[in-house]
Amino acid sequence: MLTIESLTHLGLGRASDGRSLIPRVLPGEEIDVAQDGTMRIVTPSAARVAAPCRHFKSCGGCAMQHASDDFVAGWKQDIVARALAAHGLHPVLHAIATSPTQSRRRAKFAGRRTKKGALVGFHGRASHTLIDVPDCQLVTPALLATMPALQELTILAASRKGEVDLTVTETALGADVLVGTDKDLTPDLRVVLAALANAHGLSRLVWNDEPVVTINPPDQNFGGTKVTPPPGAFLQATKQGEAALLAAVDAITQGASRIVDLFAGCGTFTLPLAARAEVHAVESETAMLAALDRGWRAGRTLRKVTTEARDLFRRPLEPDEIAKYDAAVIDPPRAGAEAQIDALARSDIKTIVMVSCNPVTFARDAKVLVDAGFAMPWVQVVDQFRWSPHVEIVSPFTRK
Ligand SMILES: C[S@@+](CC[C@H](N)C(=O)[O-])C[C@H]1O[C@@H](n2cnc3c(N)ncnc32)[C@H](O)[C@@H]1O
Repeated sequence: MLTIESLTHLGLGRASDGRSLIPRVLPGEEIDVAQDGTMRIVTPSAARVAAPCRHFKSCGGCAMQHASDDFVAGWKQDIVARALAAHGLHPVLHAIATSPTQSRRRAKFAGRRTKKGALVGFHGRASHTLIDVPDCQLVTPALLATMPALQELTILAASRKGEVDLTVTETALGADVLVGTDKDLTPDLRVVLAALANAHGLSRLVWNDEPVVTINPPDQNFGGTKVTPPPGAFLQATKQGEAALLAAVDAITQGASRIVDLFAGCGTFTLPLAARAEVHAVESETAMLAALDRGWRAGRTLRKVTTEARDLFRRPLEPDEIAKYDAAVIDPPRAGAEAQIDALARSDIKTIVMVSCNPVTFARDAKVLVDAGFAMPWVQVVDQFRWSPHVEIVSPFTRK
């Protein structure tokens, strides 16, 4: 018999034997592991619930459906609190903002051909098996409704044994679908694909890097401004998650009339902030900045927005460049933003909002700012990756 002592940040249970890491268990549970590896829960935790999705048993898309929402919320808050405490930081934790079920508006499915046609779904738990997920509780109904189109695409895109990637993003005027495949896009295939996209009401269909057809603009709406992101470009995972992050960014930067948005993407924060402030958007991907700029130009009513393509790891904005701004928003990838944070710490800027998807690099970067004299009064955890071990964080840093 083993007792589960705690969970790792990936949600695996640390067992009392000091070496086993066991999936889908909860702290305090006593489990019996048979010789063949099958596991039986002898004493379940009070936080254990029946999984809301009937696919949970076999599907590897979710990790934490066996735990109550309250447990997952506390566990995610704790991951962030511990990462910060490791650097001596103890801000107030605001209530977590968890996205509802069926709210993920972007998903990467896998597809493969079968004798009867095609199977599209998520990979199984720790396996390459594909699981059909017609009642998935994670993604939006609009994403699930694309399954027939994705199956037809798989038949056209997959080799006999290989798999294809199908990245699907919900837009107001149909799904935006990006197919990742080894198959070449021939002129004949292009005609067939365009007809398929039309028949299924897709907004855009892209084959590897090549646009096949755009039937309707695959726009995202950032604070009332429409932007057409490049295929597969970064997008916050849920509308609700994006709204929670934006509400915090907006509240923290109140009163700033010149804002720099670092790692700006396609303008998730830039464009809503431009309703009241001039914003300079800096980002390494030129296609994303071009999309942001086109959206701004078409939007007309916004304050001035400028863009700059720049690698902020190698060439961060230096203190003399930062001096122009009243506030900075910084939303780096998982690696964090060591170089840019260092430059912000040396600058005289008064207000910084940091958004992060990695508690470890967030805490490291936060510590640099706090050591440079910034106060970090609170942190909010935003859970837009429901039932997964991912967390999103937003926090203000203000000069005392
Ligand atoms: C977490 S996303 C945030 C995007 C945007 N703030 C949003 O909410 O949609 C991080 C962004 O950083 C960009 N990025 C990654 N590495 C970069 C680098 N070295 N320099 C500048 N931007 C980078 C990515 O292209 C991506 O758009």
